[in-house]
Amino acid sequence: MSLLRIIGLKAYFPTQDGIVKAVNTVDLEIEKNERVGLIGETGCGKTVLGFAIMRLLQPSTNIEGRIMYNGKDLLKLSEEEMRKIRGKEIAMIFQNPPTFLNPVLKIGYQIAESTQLHQGLDKKAAKEKAVGMLEAVKIPLSSKRVSEYPHQFSGGMKERAMIAMGLACDPSLIIADEPTKGLDITIKMQIVKLMKEVTRQGSMLFITHDLGVAAEICDNIAVMYAGELVEYAKTEDIFKNPMHPYTRGFLNSLPSRGLKQIRGISPSLIDLPSGCRFHPRCDHIEEVCKNWHPEMVECDKGHYVRCLQYG
Ligand SMILES: Nc1ncnc2c1ncn2[C@@H]1O[C@H](COP(=O)(O)OP(=O)(O)O)[C@@H](O)[C@H]1O
Ligand SMILES: [Mg+2]
Repeated sequence: MSLLRIIGLKAYFPTQDGIVKAVNTVDLEIEKNERVGLIGETGCGKTVLGFAIMRLLQPSTNIEGRIMYNGKDLLKLSEEEMRKIRGKEIAMIFQNPPTFLNPVLKIGYQIAESTQLHQGLDKKAAKEKAVGMLEAVKIPLSSKRVSEYPHQFSGGMKERAMIAMGLACDPSLIIADEPTKGLDITIKMQIVKLMKEVTRQGSMLFITHDLGVAAEICDNIAVMYAGELVEYAKTEDIFKNPMHPYTRGFLNSLPSRGLKQIRGISPSLIDLPSGCRFHPRCDHIEEVCKNWHPEMVECDKGHYVRCLQYG
């Protein structure tokens, strides 16, 4: 049984301009000890998917489908039951630490909070644990820095502190949302190395628009476009044999492959294109692509693609 199995997940936001279909019928599984990368352009629904798993979307969101975690449907749990899972069993490392670190609370306190809540540690033990966690994420002088405030930490150190918070209760599943975004290349590589080390055991959904980083960390990669998955395969297969024209375009936009951008822009999630959602930008378009919405098809063992060229 998979640790996490997402079935037919939809997350729609009703807005004044119409319904934003941010996550549109996503199926995805994560096994124990597996690291799955979720990649795609900004605005394609990655963060919303992560928030849906954590049940952190605003109450007005229309959510459908199932999110099976260890055999339980997270969407059916009460808020009280969900609170016991958040942080303890499933933890999220959020994009953009400044918004998620509380500026008026000491870093150590923010790490200790969840271990006191979930592991029943007393104040002293929780503080010791916080020091240990800062050490684990390689923050020097951790016994001193544990008593500092977020503004005393550099960007890279804030990200490390977020990772320490995420890992403090030893969760079975980590959802890491772009933990390397906005960091300069040296710091980025340090964080990647750290994420690899600290998640050697346990499962992870690693959200990123950086394929290079995903390649370093993930066993499998799911490619998301306009709210749905369009390709899923082992990381090496995504690189060696990308099948979906969008995945190929995404790869070609990497600096190592010539920085060639995909033409056009991502579609509005309020007014999605008919047929294949990628057809207005696709170089292999055929008439049928304009009207027919393709299903995910397994083309090779473990390699799924949503494109009418295949099957
Ligand atoms: N609360 C909300 N209300 C309306 N639209 C939203 C809300 N949150 C996110 N969206 C929209 O959902 C889409 C997906 O957003 P997001 O998941 O943050 O993208 P990303 O892939 O960059 O993480 C975007 O178009 C975004 O504007
Ligand atoms: Mg995001």
